[in-house]
Amino acid sequence: MRDLVIVGAGGFARETVAAVRAINEVRPAWRLRGLLDDNPALHSTTRLGVPVLGPLDAAAETDAAVVVCVGNPRDPGVRERVVDRLGLAADRYATLVHPAAQIGAGSLIGPGTVLLAGVVLTADVTVDAHVAVMPHTVLTHDDRVAAFATIASGVRVGGGVTVGRGAYLGAGALIRESVTVGAHSLVGMGSVVLADIPPGEVWVGNPARHLRPAHAASLFKEKTQ
Ligand SMILES: CC(C)(COP(=O)(O)OP(=O)(O)OC[C@H]1O[C@@H](n2cnc3c(N)ncnc32)[C@H](O)[C@@H]1OP(=O)(O)O)[C@@H](O)C(=O)NCCC(=O)NCCS
Repeated sequence: MRDLVIVGAGGFARETVAAVRAINEVRPAWRLRGLLDDNPALHSTTRLGVPVLGPLDAAAETDAAVVVCVGNPRDPGVRERVVDRLGLAADRYATLVHPAAQIGAGSLIGPGTVLLAGVVLTADVTVDAHVAVMPHTVLTHDDRVAAFATIASGVRVGGGVTVGRGAYLGAGALIRESVTVGAHSLVGMGSVVLADIPPGEVWVGNPARHLRPAHAASLFKEKTQ
C-alpha cells in the first residue's frame, strides 16, 4: 500500500475519497492520510472521516502520492494552477480509477487523473495527466483528452474526438465524432457539439453555439505565448 494525500476538500475531493475506498475494497492499494486545503477554518476538521491536514503546500513536505481534486465550471483552470504551484514530479501523482469504471484495450491514463464510477473508455482512448472524469461518462475509440480537462457526469463523446488542455465538458453534453474542443473552452451542460470549438470559448445549446469567451482565456493565452 502507498500513502496518498488528496489536494482539495470540496465536492470532487470527497468523491475521490469515496473512489479510493471503493478501490481499497477490491484490493488494498492506498493509505489515505488526509486532505489538503488552503482554508484554515478546515484545518483539523474531517471530511467523510478523513482529516484536513493543512494547506496545499504541505504536499511538498510528504513523500505520499498526491492527487489534485479541485475544479468547478466557474473556474476550470484551478487544477492546472494548483499543479503548477506544487511543482511536483509526475511520478508523485496517483492515477485513480474507480473499480466500476471500464477501461478498454489500448487505453492510456495519465498521472494525477481520476476516473469515477461508471466511466467507460471503449478502446484506444488516451486520457492525459490531471484529468477529472465524472460518473457515467463514455469516451469512445481514439478519443484524446489533454491534460487538466474536466468531463462532468454523463457526457457522451464520439470516436476520434480531441478535448483540449484544460477544457470543460458540462454534464450530459454530447460531442460528435472527430470534432475538437479547444483548450480551456467550456461546453455547457446538455449541449450538442457538432463542430470544432476554438480555444478559450464557452459554447451552449443544441446545436452548440458560441456564448462568450471563457474566463480561462487569459490562462490559455499565457500558456501559448
Ligand atoms: C455554460 C455555462 C457555464 C454558462 O453559464 P453563464 O455564463 O453563467 O451563463 P448564464 O447562466 O448567464 O446564461 C447565459 C445564456 O446562456 C444560456 N445557457 C446557459 N447554459 C446553457 C446550457 N447549458 N445550454 C443551453 N443554454 C444555456 C442561458 O439560457 C442564457 O440564455 P439567454 O441569454 O438567452 O437568457 C453554464 O450554464 C453551464 O452549463 N455550466 C456547466 C454546469 C455543469 O456541467 N455542472 C456539472 C458539474 S458540477
